[in-house]
Amino acid sequence: MTDPLYAELLQVAKDAAAAAVDLIHTNRPASFRVDDKSSATDHVTEMDTASERLIRSVIAGARPSDRVIGEEDQPAQDHPCSADASGSDESAAVTWWVDPIDGTTNYVYDHPGYNVSIAAEIDGRTVAAVVADPTHGRVYSATLGGGAYCDDRRLHLAPSTGVSDNSILATALVATGFAYSAERRRLQGRVLAELLPRIRDIRRMGAAALDLCSVAAGRVDAYYEVGLAMWDLAAGELIATEAGARVATIDGGPARPTSVLAAHPDLFDPLQAVLSELGAGRV
Ligand code: IPD
Repeated sequence: MTDPLYAELLQVAKDAAAAAVDLIHTNRPASFRVDDKSSATDHVTEMDTASERLIRSVIAGARPSDRVIGEEDQPAQDHPCSADASGSDESAAVTWWVDPIDGTTNYVYDHPGYNVSIAAEIDGRTVAAVVADPTHGRVYSATLGGGAYCDDRRLHLAPSTGVSDNSILATALVATGFAYSAERRRLQGRVLAELLPRIRDIRRMGAAALDLCSVAAGRVDAYYEVGLAMWDLAAGELIATEAGARVATIDGGPARPTSVLAAHPDLFDPLQAVLSELGAGRV
């Protein structure tokens, strides 16, 4: 049975995500301002900031004391990887991780795959998560111990039967993503050139939260990336885990934004071995 607090947080996340989808997708304006962030290819649009403001107001309306950390509108002292990041209330038991538009490049190009990603965390553990994918009309959700869903459909990865590690790797469809830094992309490209002949194919969808949901839904067999932030990872990680995927860092240990590998449990070990050998977690 789902913990009643987790169920309450999930409903707040669903309400906030629905409001954001309405703003950015249903009522997408014909044009909007686009600014550069870390590089000339890393953008923030006025829709990212408007979406985050809206999500913050929905969360604050329901749970005024909670701490909210978002990608676009974080207080100056907050940092995605900082353990002591402060928000509306330093003693808050619940911290929200908000990516108001994950896949901003997709959004700018009106390319499918952008999403709204919202996670509620208690004591360092994500307990409720929503990833809303408006172009495909899907809402992924999960609560800790309560399972993962795509809309009303329970997500559960079935075990593969009688397949060897070699053939499971050779037939794996693997999603990944690339950093915004040109030098890091060069190194990531080298890893990919060695990985590609050993798997079925790769997919680069351009939105980390949805890549994790695609693992949960069996739409890809695995996903790996380095250099994410907590708001990219938190919601999708819980959804993938609750669907039965294994999620960890590329080199082992609990998943961190700096390094994540999510895979069907039967594929995880052989893929992790290859990625570690290629140094994918150390680019
Ligand atoms: C990005 C997307 C992309 C991933 C990047 C993320 P943003 O998020 O998830 O797929 O490769 O690492 O930063 O910047 O569009 O919110």
